[in-house]
Amino acid sequence: MKIFVTGGTGFVGSYLVRNLARRGHKVTVVTRSPGKASSINGGVALVQGDPMKPGQWQQELKDHDVIVNLAGASIFTYWTEKARKAIMESRLFTTRNVVDALAENGKEKILISASAVGYYGSREDDLVLDESSPPGNEFVTEVSRLWEAEAARAADHGVRVVLARLGIVLGRNGGALGKMVPAFKRYLGGTLGSGRQWFPWIHEEDILHIILFLLEKDHIAGPVNFTAPNPVRHKDLVQTLSKVLNKPAVMPPVPGFAVKALLGEFGNVLLKGQRVIPGKLTDEGYQFQYPELRGALENILRQE
Ligand SMILES: NC(=O)c1ccc[n+]([C@@H]2O[C@H](COP(=O)([O-])OP(=O)(O)OC[C@H]3O[C@@H](n4cnc5c(N)ncnc54)[C@H](OP(=O)(O)O)[C@@H]3O)[C@@H](O)[C@H]2O)c1
Repeated sequence: MKIFVTGGTGFVGSYLVRNLARRGHKVTVVTRSPGKASSINGGVALVQGDPMKPGQWQQELKDHDVIVNLAGASIFTYWTEKARKAIMESRLFTTRNVVDALAENGKEKILISASAVGYYGSREDDLVLDESSPPGNEFVTEVSRLWEAEAARAADHGVRVVLARLGIVLGRNGGALGKMVPAFKRYLGGTLGSGRQWFPWIHEEDILHIILFLLEKDHIAGPVNFTAPNPVRHKDLVQTLSKVLNKPAVMPPVPGFAVKALLGEFGNVLLKGQRVIPGKLTDEGYQFQYPELRGALENILRQE
């Protein structure tokens, strides 16, 4: 298939596009910086453009069967007013431009548009959340909700729209592990706050396989939780990570107030988490490559 990707140079996107191309799909990535994107080459075509702005890249998009929409400014930062604006607008404007480009001949096309488990809000309880659960009430929820609403407009043009509510992606070259592993290797890894908060994770390889699965399932549309079936508590993540790395986590837990002082509202998200399960994928019979955290971490970290 011909697959067009926004955000294809990022942590999730670069893994995805390399592996889609390896499987024989014709993949095109729109990027603001083709120079920086040279590492993904491997048969992937690059188009220069800023997806936040309408442009020639939209003409290129029209010629593709599938659009995977991942672009967005990083949320791993202190959320100043300026950062919040960038986080929100980079997602809304990009998605709006993608959907506008699909207005003419959307029939037979598929849009897989990223969202996040942040949709459900940061929660301190053990309630199990699936796609039918209501949204939370905070900044990340608002971003996810509006981002999804922009993507959902493509359905009016006949496009099959999947809203991919991504959990925390575990993979080789960045993401959450890219931030955690260096600290653990120096015996500086530890629990944040009580450690009881839920950590809804997913292996990058499952993201690839879920997308391939969804391409074959014409009847699946709307929100789909991209999370492993066995979320863990943060303290279990810390324990498993230290076992797999063979580096005991000797640091005392970082108190919640310190995390909040350091990271502001983003710190709050890390301290609360949410217990999300892949309700729709399980109902549809998707078989996870990595259903358990230990196997996922061994696969990622023992090959490094
Ligand atoms: N990683 C996770 O654990 C996780 C969890 C939940 C949801 N998600 C969502 O999944 C998507 C991909 O995540 P990721 O970790 O791969 O992100 P990433 O590594 O930060 O990559 C994001 C991509 O978006 C583009 N981008 C960044 N800022 C932009 C801006 N201001 N305007 C337009 N494009 C911009 C960049 O492309 P160019 O620089 O090439 O233009 C980059 O390749 C994100 O939208 C993220 O919110 C990720």
